[in-house]
Amino acid sequence: MRPLVFAGNWKMNVGPVEAREYLRAFFAAGEIPHERSVWFFPPTVSIEAVAQGIAGHRNVQAGAQDIYWEAKGAFTGATSGALAKQAGARLTLIGHSERRHVFGETDEQTGKKVTAALAADLQPVLCVGETLEQREAGDTLAVVTRQLAAALGGRDGKTRVTIAYEPVWAIGTGRNATPKDAAEVHQAIRGWLKKQAVTAAPYVILYGGSVNLKNAAELLAEHELDGVLVGGASLDPRAWAQLVRTPAA
Ligand code: 13P
Repeated sequence: MRPLVFAGNWKMNVGPVEAREYLRAFFAAGEIPHERSVWFFPPTVSIEAVAQGIAGHRNVQAGAQDIYWEAKGAFTGATSGALAKQAGARLTLIGHSERRHVFGETDEQTGKKVTAALAADLQPVLCVGETLEQREAGDTLAVVTRQLAAALGGRDGKTRVTIAYEPVWAIGTGRNATPKDAAEVHQAIRGWLKKQAVTAAPYVILYGGSVNLKNAAELLAEHELDGVLVGGASLDPRAWAQLVRTPAA
């Protein structure tokens, strides 16, 4: 079986008390299948509870949903990479579509956050993806490569970064990309990473956008997908335990 990543982005849901209950229910289903990794991205206030709740479980990591690029100081409300790390994060999402579209994060800022994550020894999970308007205009690959270049351009080939392709039109809409649509973009991303040599192989590329128990098997049958980044369908611990056990070819 090829290795697969199942990443759950809880967004602004699941506080620390709920996170402890969630993990008890999740692990009641047993250990994570061999060759699979499960990454949880809880809200910042729940990172420590998740880190404690997953301790001792194989192939399970906690991550932050976002970090600020400054290392410390007078930045009310922000969380640095070092603070997230101290709470138990090993990874961080960067440039999630909601950060870009709800909070106005720019391509340039995602680059600063990737630098900050690497400095804090957090593995960045860089999110890229086009809006519906951009897809319909035929700009998908141009947008995605612009986002990659802004965040990763000029780094050396030893940098470890995971990419999550999340088309904006597929997030929380119930409308997922077809396996073929996703594979086409993943292939372009992989080609760009190889050519630019700004990150280390193996290139891990996740798909996100309305992944659920019904469509996960079909998506994961596509070998361009190294895993999934899931919002809504990661919020129920029993359904998530089932999703991470999706049979994949
Ligand atoms: P949904 O799975 O709810 O569409 O969210 C996807 C996402 O944004 C994960 O980061």
